Amino acid sequence: MEITCVNAVFYSATGNTRKVTCEIAKQVAGILKVPLTTYDFSLPRNRVHQQYDRNQLVVFGMPVYAGRIPNKILPFVQTLFQGNGALAVPVVTFGNRSYDNALLELRNELTLHGFHPVAAGAFAAQHAFTEKLAGGRPDEKDMELLHEFAAEIADKALHLTEIPGPVSVPGTEPVTAYYTPLGTDGKPAVFLKAKPRTADSCTDCKVCVSLCPMGSIDYDNPASVSGICIKCQACVKGCPEHAKYFGDPAFLSHVKMLEQNYTRRAEPEIFI
Ligand SMILES: Cc1cc2nc3c(=O)[nH]c(=O)nc-3n(C[C@H](O)[C@H](O)[C@H](O)COP(=O)(O)O)c2cc1C
Repeated sequence: MEITCVNAVFYSATGNTRKVTCEIAKQVAGILKVPLTTYDFSLPRNRVHQQYDRNQLVVFGMPVYAGRIPNKILPFVQTLFQGNGALAVPVVTFGNRSYDNALLELRNELTLHGFHPVAAGAFAAQHAFTEKLAGGRPDEKDMELLHEFAAEIADKALHLTEIPGPVSVPGTEPVTAYYTPLGTDGKPAVFLKAKPRTADSCTDCKVCVSLCPMGSIDYDNPASVSGICIKCQACVKGCPEHAKYFGDPAFLSHVKMLEQNYTRRAEPEIFI
């Protein structure tokens, strides 16, 4: 099959999914010797419709939130993109616990919107909540697999003579329940309404306002979050003064539970 362009498309609040998606797409484009384009829909101002065609290959990256695609970002996946027969590679990054049904959900959404998913991958990356889970990942070993994956994608795309069915990935159909976060007591940790707090070191620089994927932090008073908070940690990680933090007890208990139970190395998985 002739591929004329490779596209890296992603939502990435704290940079892991950007890194993984762009690296795969860059390698595939390099092997196929075709141009690479990048489309980042993490921020509200960037969200405009995208059209592809059957000679394009789209590496589509999403992080795993609660075992699925982030529920508040899913509507953009469903409305912004028209594959028009483009080949796709759904990719998820997850914070060392599990990617549960996220890869299956992304594969299915891309199929519904005119893409042909021909390969897929799930990559462990530093958990947005704590560096004790997959800290420093993707690491060198992950990058090696990522490069092998890219070579296999390029090879498959080049040698396709007809469009195969969607690549098989693990998961349970229908994709319904989200993972329920637990606290250290083993009971559900309810922190849906938690919002970041702001320390006195805040200088009102507005960086957090510009980083929030939901556009929820008030420009006139960045200590106030009047919109929805999806706990993505973009403001916490992006604040130059380290002034943003989550103090909600249920949230902190969930993070502790993760640190107690999920520090073993989760391996990435690829599907061709
Ligand atoms: C709200 C939220 C929920 C998450 N849920 C999961 C999860 O269910 N399983 C898991 O392994 N990692 C989970 N993570 C970790 C992210 O999947 C991981 O940090 C991801 O690489 C973040 O991508 P980004 O840096 O592109 O934003 C969660 C992170 C956030 C912010």
